[in-house]
Amino acid sequence: MDRIIIKGGKPLYGGICISGAKNAALTLLPCALLTDDPLTLRNLPRLADVDSFGHLLNQLGVSTTIEGARPDEFGRVMTLRASNIASTVAPYDIVRKMRASILVLGPLLARAGQATVSLPGGCAIGMRPIDLHLKALEALGAEIEITAGYVKATAPKGGLVGGTISFPQVSVGATENALMAAVLAKGTTIIENAAREPEITDLAKCLIAMGASIEGLRTDTLTVRGKSKLHGATYAVMPDRIEAGSYACAALITGGSLELMGARKETMPSILSGLVEAGAIIEDVEGGIKVSANGGLKPLSLSTAPYPAFPTDMQAQFMAMLALANGTSLLTETIFENRYMHVPELARMGAEIEVKGRTAVVRGVDKLHGAQVMATDLRASMSLIIAGLAAEGETEVGRVYHLDRGYERLEEKLQAVGADIERQSDG
Ligand code: EPZ
Repeated sequence: MDRIIIKGGKPLYGGICISGAKNAALTLLPCALLTDDPLTLRNLPRLADVDSFGHLLNQLGVSTTIEGARPDEFGRVMTLRASNIASTVAPYDIVRKMRASILVLGPLLARAGQATVSLPGGCAIGMRPIDLHLKALEALGAEIEITAGYVKATAPKGGLVGGTISFPQVSVGATENALMAAVLAKGTTIIENAAREPEITDLAKCLIAMGASIEGLRTDTLTVRGKSKLHGATYAVMPDRIEAGSYACAALITGGSLELMGARKETMPSILSGLVEAGAIIEDVEGGIKVSANGGLKPLSLSTAPYPAFPTDMQAQFMAMLALANGTSLLTETIFENRYMHVPELARMGAEIEVKGRTAVVRGVDKLHGAQVMATDLRASMSLIIAGLAAEGETEVGRVYHLDRGYERLEEKLQAVGADIERQSDG
């Protein structure tokens, strides 16, 4: 297993290219199932999860060809083609390693009239049920059966039928599955209390480019007029707002200044307001955003919530940064039930954090010290990297395969802005 070694204390200065968004890529890839034409996705990040999703689609009969990055973009170009659907089964051994595989359920059901997908099971941060996904598909006429750990979904004889999907709580993935099913359903579908994350808008824009009719983008009510067929398209994945926010925290905690090239301010309102409250100077620069430290870090209180509120995917990174703030911060995690596994690891580095129910009380300390720490999930891993960049001495982060799921070429990007960071591999 690889580990990352950081010698902390160096302020970061320079520019970082922000890659295509993992959580957009993972919902754009299954769109290829919705047409027999080629779908070309640009600015795809080089991430383990993107590769795993490509392998799953190959098993379903989707051909995938990859070109290198364009000179003006960081990511890869992948052309996918589902001329026909060879299989409608997403097996346990793939789904258990990548929960996002559940996002083939809606498009398979819409295109092939059936889908058998292994239940994804929980993960480190929570139970991660899929009841909202299944209820949404039932609202479009699907019959759902759960046997032997698999969901078997079957569309009516004539295909899915438009209806009203009213989510009792916001779910990004369930909104994505509902959208990808509704675009080929007969008639109109209304999706109420839809997630409004930028990745949902990216999905809707890609589906519209493929000929879908979707109204209400960026709102919590989406209206989809079903089509009999969709055609191919070429679509560029949006930049990763969570990667950008993560590097912004690294700039602040090290007392530096980073230009986040490709980052889009309009997709990060609550991340940027949190950074400003913590003391950052935010400036617009050509093609991106500049985030600079401005003296010491200030404490703040925030709660995670669905977009446009503060994203749960930034909670661990902010916690690492606020471990060095001049005062006490309160971070409340309202989305996932177990997203504080970075706390004991940060404590090994000298952070003073107490978890009371859903709230973490972060008492700022003068310094963190390097230590051997263990990554437990994707965003927790990044919080340990952020802390290591500021800690005195050497930090070794183990199990960095978690990081490789969501941060493309992390060491390379950080080395280029002055970090003393390297990857060591056991093999
Ligand atoms: C997406 O997960 C993201 N993953 C997550 O990012 C992100 O944290 C999450 O949205 C919230 O923004 C991808 O896009 C691949 P949800 P998703 O459905 O869709 C509950 C990262 O670090 N729920 O919005 O699984 C659920 O348990 C990852 O990049 C149900 O109860 O999240 C959670 O408490 C982590 N029933 C809440 O809703 C359901 O059927 C929000 O989950 C579905 C969800």
